[in-house]
Amino acid sequence: AGIRSAAIPVDQEGINVDEGLKRAPSARLACVTPSHQYPLGVTMSLPRRMRLLEWARRNRAWIVEDDYDSEFRYSGHPLAALQGLDTAGRVLYMGTFSKVLFPGLRLGYLVCPPPLVDAFVSARALADRHPPGIEQAITAEFIAEGHFARHVRRMRALYAERQQELLRATERELAGLLEVRSAAAGMHLNGWLADSASDQDVSARAAAAGIIAPALSSYVIHARIRPGLRLGYAAFSERQIREGVRKLAIVLHSGIASVQSRSRRLPRVLQTNAMHPSSVTTA
Ligand SMILES: Cc1ncc(COP(=O)(O)O)c(C=O)c1O
Repeated sequence: AGIRSAAIPVDQEGINVDEGLKRAPSARLACVTPSHQYPLGVTMSLPRRMRLLEWARRNRAWIVEDDYDSEFRYSGHPLAALQGLDTAGRVLYMGTFSKVLFPGLRLGYLVCPPPLVDAFVSARALADRHPPGIEQAITAEFIAEGHFARHVRRMRALYAERQQELLRATERELAGLLEVRSAAAGMHLNGWLADSASDQDVSARAAAAGIIAPALSSYVIHARIRPGLRLGYAAFSERQIREGVRKLAIVLHSGIASVQSRSRRLPRVLQTNAMHPSSVTTA
């Protein structure tokens, strides 16, 4: 379709709009996850939301608001969606049942500005006519009869407990090796490794031990971030979470052991630092 993409940095307030203006001054569309930036987990601040909307209004550009998991917020209040704040009709709000029900359902939805509706209906008809009818009808009834709201409430409480279990297990097994902080929303936590670590390497070794913990560097384009792992917890029981963390601890401890055995030939000061992964780079 001739799209050229530009990677825009994200900070504690979400997408850096001013940096975006510098890197892609003639951009026509911004794709964002304001409720819960994927995968860093930042919530876009209200000033940033207003700035992004102002950019779209002035430039007659579009914003795709991918609100993929906002049902799972455990503390704090959600901010108004960009779509709700938009007075210029520039936001396409996208949701999915993949997270809140299950991905195999393949149902999602788009709330788009009225002038775009016909174009999207035509595009959908060309692509595959329409989403599956039976699944839509069953999901609609599931919602209308109140089961969906009950399911979300139950899952929110369950996932909050699972997140707590992951935090307890990582604190117990991985203190000093993986820095994990609680998150107010979502279905995963990020675990930060020592600056000197290769998250791709750790992730590959974890996968060999049966643990899927994607490297955070694999989500980044043209930037360097602190190495880390994405740790999903929503789909696992508390026992599975404890077992998974134990396996990850073996992987991380064996990494340290191999650094130590390599460092036996190194000067004494390096050997000391190798005990503390965060200081390996400064050694
Ligand atoms: C950022 C993000 N958006 C949207 C989705 C949902 O995609 P789909 O509805 O195609 O399953 C996901 C699923 O993993 C996601 O990570």
